[in-house]
Amino acid sequence: MSEGLRILTAWWAEPETVWITRYVQTGGYKGLRKALTMTPQEVIEEVKASGLRGRGGAGFPTGVKWSFVPQDTGKPTYLVANFDESEPGTYNNRELVERDPHQFLEGVIIASYAVQCHTAFIYTRGEFLFPGRVLERAIAEAYDEGFLGKDILKSGYQLDVVLHKGAGAYICGEETALLSSLEGYRGQPRLRPPFPAVEGLYASPTAINNVETLCNVPHILVNGARWFAGIGTEKSPGTKIFSVSGKVNVPGNFEAPMGTPARVVIEEMAGGVLDGKHLKAWTPGGSSTPFLTEEHLDVGLDFESIAEAGSLLGTGALMVTDERDCMVRVCQRLLQFYAHESCGKCTPCREGTWWVTRMLTRVEEGFGRREDIPLLGEIGDNILFKAFCALADGAVSPITSTLKYFRDEYEEHVRLGRCPFTEPRAPRLPAVREAPPEPSWPEPAPIPLSEILR
Ligand SMILES: Cc1cc2nc3c(=O)[nH]c(=O)nc-3n(C[C@H](O)[C@H](O)[C@H](O)COP(=O)(O)O)c2cc1C
Ligand code: SF4
Repeated sequence: MSEGLRILTAWWAEPETVWITRYVQTGGYKGLRKALTMTPQEVIEEVKASGLRGRGGAGFPTGVKWSFVPQDTGKPTYLVANFDESEPGTYNNRELVERDPHQFLEGVIIASYAVQCHTAFIYTRGEFLFPGRVLERAIAEAYDEGFLGKDILKSGYQLDVVLHKGAGAYICGEETALLSSLEGYRGQPRLRPPFPAVEGLYASPTAINNVETLCNVPHILVNGARWFAGIGTEKSPGTKIFSVSGKVNVPGNFEAPMGTPARVVIEEMAGGVLDGKHLKAWTPGGSSTPFLTEEHLDVGLDFESIAEAGSLLGTGALMVTDERDCMVRVCQRLLQFYAHESCGKCTPCREGTWWVTRMLTRVEEGFGRREDIPLLGEIGDNILFKAFCALADGAVSPITSTLKYFRDEYEEHVRLGRCPFTEPRAPRLPAVREAPPEPSWPEPAPIPLSEILR
């Protein structure tokens, strides 16, 4: 089995890594020590030069994002670490925090220093009870050891970290909805511009970063921007932790340089498709990225190559289906999720995801009409880029990609009047039942008048 390249996951196998003493013994907090000898601007330049791109989905250059945070507004500046991790199939942030919480905290502290923030927030979903506890303990340790609080490592720099637990909603991972939730409002996205870098938390300049993004920062400080830029591809440097799930023998998180072919991750790292079956489809970056197929297995897992192949790298969550899976059912289940998680703010998303889910259920259950197939695509077109935030665009990905690669499965559902992947059941009832015929009673024989008058 391929081992990949372990930078962020180097100490995962050692349970002791969760403790600050072990983290420091193995070189931890060296990046912070180095950062504190530099000016905040120099830290930003180093991260810019490394080419680090956000791992939360969009791949925006991290150093550039930090450089957008103005320092002359007279307002406090904030750093918000996005530990909501709600994209289906994605689970590397959770393991990063559970197994090596100080690596993440060190990234938070360096990033806060770079944007000159003195109160950083970590937003996590309420369901993350265990990683939440690990993080609480790590924060307490960092305060005790002088890595947080007043006068960090006698540098004069001060930082407090607040861990905030949300109630658990997919939309609260979207950065502006996250800010609303953090402020105590309903978790719904906000109009951009103004972007959070300029007007974010409490209308103050705010840098928002994903957990995996921040975990890379200490390594860049210790080893230098050139070292980091030399890993992966030119435009997508560094490693990525790929979360593999679904029909594979060894599901799990695997770290590998950006640009590693999907075949290596699925077949060598995750042990190949379950029961020796054929791979049918896979997502490169969670449920909101279009499905790719077996023919794309040699595409490199980096932002550019995946975009060229017609999808998105997203969060690097590879959800694998095999020849036994019904792609109409897969699409229907994903759309159920989006319809449930739509925050309801705008019509194309709120109504569109609901209607599409109903139509997909109809097709999957064998009641679909031939015209439903193009109609699904049409509704998808009317949602894509016409809603307020990217949740809706993500919801369209399973529709368009399954229609593109597995249209025959949709047609087969309609032709057979049932799902071709399940055993035929007893003949189904027609969609609209005809009224039963009126019962016919024999006409009563007339009673003779003589009988009545008797
Ligand atoms: C519906 C939706 C859900 C999202 N969920 C997450 C999430 O759970 N974690 C995350 O880091 N980013 C998530 N994002 C992306 C964030 O909005 C934001 O781009 C990211 O946190 C920025 O960090 P980065 O630059 O380090 O990638 C989500 C975006 C959308 C549209
Ligand atoms: S696209 Fe969906 S999730 Fe985003 S604001 Fe509109 S209704 Fe809410």
